[in-house]
Amino acid sequence: MITVQTDVGGSIERVQYALVPSHEFSLPPALHEAGESLRRDWEHLEPDPYMADGGKYRFRRYGLFQLSAATGQLTHVSDASFYQSIEINPLNGGEHRHFAPLAPDTVENPFLHELIQFDFAQLTSKKHIEGDWLIGVHQIRITATTGVQGNPTPEGIHRDDENYTSQHLVSRHNIGGGINYFYGSGPEPTRRPQAVWKQESYFDSYYFERSLWHSVSPITSGDRGGDGHRDVILIDFVESSGVH
Ligand SMILES: [Fe+2]
Repeated sequence: MITVQTDVGGSIERVQYALVPSHEFSLPPALHEAGESLRRDWEHLEPDPYMADGGKYRFRRYGLFQLSAATGQLTHVSDASFYQSIEINPLNGGEHRHFAPLAPDTVENPFLHELIQFDFAQLTSKKHIEGDWLIGVHQIRITATTGVQGNPTPEGIHRDDENYTSQHLVSRHNIGGGINYFYGSGPEPTRRPQAVWKQESYFDSYYFERSLWHSVSPITSGDRGGDGHRDVILIDFVESSGVH
């Protein structure tokens, strides 16, 4: 079992987000190998084919799961596309995007299954949850090299469509930038961010709900120049009951 010291659900209830440094997590030794196998996936992502700016700095895979809140049963949904509205993502939204799928081993990875169940439990710990949920798993690498920055997805201050989102840093290598900003959950973002956080270590993580305004700054090549990257796993949770 993954455990965490932070009351993620309580923080979500109070301020709509939770920032959790890696040292607050305890990852189970029995799932260590599966966790390491998952981390190696970021060396084998595919170029993002939906880059309206023509950039070649983003690599990803995507998979969709269904989770029954009643039984805890997690099922992979094959051949899923990903949709963001044009309001949420003016640059690349407004169409169904077919990213490279998760690798077959990843779909079955026990650490990933545990992480999905764990994150869902944290995010919904203060709520009465039932029905079916759709859970999107995004493996994303943004690269930067000398003179070419990497932009996050989506760009700028925005809110997400999904009920809840979790994000875990997988790797940060030879880059500047890549800083997370959180701007409250009112009708408009606050003028200044309420929280600013640079994730540095494997498993530095944050959680938020859909009302939260947020952004990530572009990454630039590190002080020594050359190639750098920022790898994250992003998991989004959508209540699907009543939709079908
Ligand atoms: Fe977002």
